[in-house]
Amino acid sequence: QFDEHMGVTFIPVMLVQKDINDFFSSFAENNRLYNFMDSYECIFYNKGEYVVREGDIGDSAFVLIDGEVEVRRKGSDEVLAVMGQGEVFGELALLTDDVRSADVIARSELRIMSLPKEAFLDHLMNNPDHAMWML
Ligand code: CMP
Repeated sequence: QFDEHMGVTFIPVMLVQKDINDFFSSFAENNRLYNFMDSYECIFYNKGEYVVREGDIGDSAFVLIDGEVEVRRKGSDEVLAVMGQGEVFGELALLTDDVRSADVIARSELRIMSLPKEAFLDHLMNNPDHAMWML
């Protein structure tokens, strides 16, 4: 659907919007805040809990409001990435229509906002500067 709307053949790989305030205000600027508030859900996790499991079907992306997560491949101890406040994860499955590429695990207590696939893709369509592109 990205090809159609944006006239490009690139695959979006990740959000580059690192400042959560900018992320939220961009919804407001577009008069989309109301829709957005309607479509999000705040979720809490304890340390050690899995937010995303590799191989699952993905229907939401997540914004980390508070806390820290780590990314690991299933069954591996190697930490591929650590993410903190304001960072977005779980976007890949939505952009590629593939299953979750890795486990995402709470390193602390978390407060997370869940963005349903449709709201997330809609946001990117309207804010293409929030995406980074790769051949
Ligand atoms: P998704 O594939 O939906 O679910 C797992 C998430 O972990 C993925 O989206 C990314 O947000 C994140 N992720 C997967 N692999 C890496 C990596 N190598 N570095 C950073 N983040 C990753």
